[in-house]
Amino acid sequence: MKVVRSIEELRDQLRGQLRVAFVPTMGNLHAAHLSLMAMAHQHGDPVVASIFVNRLQFGPNEDFDKYPRTLQQDIDKLQQQNTVYVLFAPTEAEMYPEPQKYRVNPPHDLGDILEGHFRPGFFVGVSTVVLKLFSCVQPRVAVFGKKDYQQLMIVRHMCRQFALPTDIVAHETVRDPDGLAMSSRNRFLSEAERKEAPRLYRVLNEVRERLRAGEIDTPAVEHDAQRELAAAGWQVDYVSVRRQIDLKAPDAGQVAGGEPLVVLAAAKLGTTRLIDNLEI
Ligand code: PAJ
Repeated sequence: MKVVRSIEELRDQLRGQLRVAFVPTMGNLHAAHLSLMAMAHQHGDPVVASIFVNRLQFGPNEDFDKYPRTLQQDIDKLQQQNTVYVLFAPTEAEMYPEPQKYRVNPPHDLGDILEGHFRPGFFVGVSTVVLKLFSCVQPRVAVFGKKDYQQLMIVRHMCRQFALPTDIVAHETVRDPDGLAMSSRNRFLSEAERKEAPRLYRVLNEVRERLRAGEIDTPAVEHDAQRELAAAGWQVDYVSVRRQIDLKAPDAGQVAGGEPLVVLAAAKLGTTRLIDNLEI
């Protein structure tokens, strides 16, 4: 695996490659990231990964400085897996040599709801860096995880609206055996919080089971889910049932009619904010 730090070196390495499969990350790699790399290899060759902690997607009160930076361990993991051909790990000065003033603004009805409501500017930062990374790597396909469901959707829309020549492939959420979705943030959980954390996924499953059993009052189901988490000590941002197609709230007729749905949740355990979702 070649590790390149500059856009120029990256271009040198990839000259003439038309089937690049790309996996962008912020590093601190875990098994889910490695699974995305493996999936990328089924869709293209060579596989290019990136590690870049993108300042633009962190709010003023968020953990940009605290975000775990573990480049050497990440390189070791990728070397061992032996799937990635080039790792693009640009410095901040390389990606943002001057303040990034052009931004990609996702539509409000997609970018300002759910995660975007609780993290203003988050999807502007994500969209901007993903477009810039795509411009550097020029991938034929790129793999994104369903764990970040809204992000996946926004990247898909961006590619469509800008006619980018990159197909977006979705990877299922990878979980620990007890159901907790893998995340770089899980390392911040105390032992007790780590034991409690799988409740988020259990609650999403309860929502799914109730809707599958024919309940159509989604606000009532969401309310119960939020109450269960709050009772167990969580600070809930949202538990929300949405249409898969556009992340809008379904009406009762749509729920009854079998509209494809997804339940998305974000909640804090102590100081650690976790997100998860489940398709219905
Ligand atoms: P990061 O959180 O490092 O995630 C990189 C990719 O791994 C994303 O596509 C994410 O959805 C996926 N991923 C993380 N945990 C996963 C899990 N448990 N199961 C399945 N996929 C998982 O997402 C970002 O970085 C950034 O926003 C980025 C797109 C790189 C832009 O900066």
